Amino acid sequence: MIKETRITLKNIGKINPESIEDYLEAGGCEGLKRAFTMDPVSIIDELLEAGLRGRGGAGFSTGMKQRFTSESCRQCPQRYVVVNADEGEPGTFKDRLIMEQDPHLYIEGTIIAAYAINATKGYIYLRGEYQESIDKTQKAIESAYARGFLGKNILNSGFDFDLEIKLGAGSYLCGEELTMLESLEGKRGTPRIKPPFPAEKGLFGLPTLVNNVETLATVPPIIFHGKEWYRKFGTERSAGTKIFAISGQVNKPGNYEVEMGVTLRQLINDLAGGMREGKKFKAALLGGAAGTFVDASLLDDRMTYDHLKEKGATLGSGAVIVMAEGDSVFDILHNCLRFFRHESCGKCVPCRVGTSLLERESLKLRNGHPDKKALLQQLVKESQIMANTSLCPLGQSPILPLESAARFFAEELTA
Ligand SMILES: Cc1cc2nc3c(=O)[nH]c(=O)nc-3n(C[C@H](O)[C@H](O)[C@H](O)COP(=O)(O)O)c2cc1C
Ligand code: SF4
Repeated sequence: MIKETRITLKNIGKINPESIEDYLEAGGCEGLKRAFTMDPVSIIDELLEAGLRGRGGAGFSTGMKQRFTSESCRQCPQRYVVVNADEGEPGTFKDRLIMEQDPHLYIEGTIIAAYAINATKGYIYLRGEYQESIDKTQKAIESAYARGFLGKNILNSGFDFDLEIKLGAGSYLCGEELTMLESLEGKRGTPRIKPPFPAEKGLFGLPTLVNNVETLATVPPIIFHGKEWYRKFGTERSAGTKIFAISGQVNKPGNYEVEMGVTLRQLINDLAGGMREGKKFKAALLGGAAGTFVDASLLDDRMTYDHLKEKGATLGSGAVIVMAEGDSVFDILHNCLRFFRHESCGKCVPCRVGTSLLERESLKLRNGHPDKKALLQQLVKESQIMANTSLCPLGQSPILPLESAARFFAEELTA
């Protein structure tokens, strides 16, 4: 029987999120104070060796990204930190918990990251629909200014850093880092071609570090306790803990922070209270719409970035949508395809046409087709073509749920 290991969520339910005094009494800002005793390069090394990987979905090394950003364009007049608080992936609701219940923590992590890469300005790109997150974060920013954690000469360190919120308008694509930068610059939310990456040429053409809320909220405890302490949790290549947002057919849906390497069975049975009404597990969609379906054969596999990848599955943002016997895989799959069609920005033809085609054609799996097996193969092939020819990762996403659903549930989908 596993239990939660709360590092990033340790204050949740224990402090008043609107009181910086509560936060400080609970050990808040100790990571920041320690950071100011270190030189910026050592902070980056600490995070790199701690093995922290981005929690926004891609799992890229946080220390490595900081290193690229701090080393690029040394003559540039300005560097930025952008907090990705857009949380648009369906089934994901973990950043919201941090922003609503412990906003000072991710702000502290943002200040440490800014100090590490020598950025003097930061933006939190926050989902416009998350009113409570906006209010709590705004209040936390104001308290941080009042207590000298933001602004000029923070804690007499000689380091200046300003932070403000910018609101997103509910576009899934604007959660993608380069599209987010376009939106922050006041332009329409369509993607830029990669490379250059934000570390090289980000906001207003200057080096920019983009990190997810959970990633940044994990930085203060690592800096305070050190890399060896953090490495005690999780596995060699997926160190530490991860928040999983579990929903669907379980008794206790919610956010659970556990060591990396937990199994799906443990998540469902030990933490989420088991299957609802004692139903039988059928499938889970891991990582949201841009994620993968798995069946019961993966219930005992370790949920780490690399192991799931080897199995053709994804960890992504940590969303886990659980389905029970009797639930329709087609319905969930079709929802994902409809979502991509709705969120496609229309800038490139393969995705603009392809997402509409997949949504429309896949309906024939339910409504009737003379050769459903061939149709399913055709849909997978079309999503593959889209993945190869689309301009940005959104067009490369439909293949994930489609191919995995076809792998595990071909019989049901073509019945
Ligand atoms: C279509 C799309 C939507 C995305 N939405 C989000 C999001 O809502 N929140 C997020 O943190 N990352 C999102 N990402 C990932 C970001 O592009 C980026 O990888 C992340 O912010 C990097 O932070 P990290 O290294 O801390 O994970 C999205 C990516 C794509 C392709
Ligand atoms: S892949 Fe889709 S979302 Fe990305 S640029 Fe092309 S049309 Fe827009």
